[in-house]
Amino acid sequence: MSTATIIDGKAFAAKVREQVAAHVAKLKEQGITPGLAVVLVGEDPASKVYVRNKGEQTKASGMASFEHKLPAETSEEDLLALIAKLNSDPSVHGILVQLPLPKHLNSDLVINSIDPAKDVDGFHISNVGLLGTGQKAMVPCTPLGCLMLLRDHLGSLSGLNAVVVGRSNIVGKPMAQLLLADSCTVTIAHSRTKDLPEVCRRADIVVAAVGRPEMVEGDWIKPGATVIDVGINRIERDGKTKLVGDVHFESASKVAGAITPVPGGVGPMTIACLLANTLTACCRANGLAEPEGLTA
Ligand code: GUN
Repeated sequence: MSTATIIDGKAFAAKVREQVAAHVAKLKEQGITPGLAVVLVGEDPASKVYVRNKGEQTKASGMASFEHKLPAETSEEDLLALIAKLNSDPSVHGILVQLPLPKHLNSDLVINSIDPAKDVDGFHISNVGLLGTGQKAMVPCTPLGCLMLLRDHLGSLSGLNAVVVGRSNIVGKPMAQLLLADSCTVTIAHSRTKDLPEVCRRADIVVAAVGRPEMVEGDWIKPGATVIDVGINRIERDGKTKLVGDVHFESASKVAGAITPVPGGVGPMTIACLLANTLTACCRANGLAEPEGLTA
């Protein structure tokens, strides 16, 4: 049985962060400091951890970090007023509103109130439309990170069969658009797809983003295929909490040509790409050349 190459997302993300930091240092010599504003509404524990990590890594890269922590009962009006202020603040190049928002707030309305040029999550309908029509967009961070790993490992993706398992707005749909733009033949599959194992077995590239622990098994994988596991699931096993992906790593790594582990695969790429997107937004805002290799 062959054993897959492990794609080291942690190391790759560190390289991306170094590239970003080097570019930021050059911008600062010209008197420009890229800035990222992160807005957190409420007390969701996982969101608090993400926001703290985002702030720390933003500062570590040399960029300015603006954190706005609002109480869970914040009104839509107040949140929209804050976003309007950030939209018109020239020291803010990227705006991220951490999701999920408390239920009384309309996420679509809030996200679509962000200036699309500052929408470093790539969730604004304008950016979704730009990506879908092959125009210059802000691209969602997790799919962008997956694309970088795939390009680094495979070189050209042209002509390859790619199956994306999962159809979320945050990962599945933008991932499919990016693979299509790189000339893959793309299938978007999901939990209701008929004979999902057979669909996956046709793929040269499998991107698993369904949110079901260890769903994609080794016998779903074509020998030699590249497997990107976006899942982060906490499960109880042998009395311990364990982090697993959407791919059954043990069986899949015996069949795949290359595979991302969980943790240490796609996860670290997301914040690295958030920094890259903030840098890109800053360069565009200042009419400067974009950083090479850090955009789609
Ligand atoms: N919550 C979970 N993932 C994300 C993300 O990528 N962006 C935002 N804004 N919120 C999230």
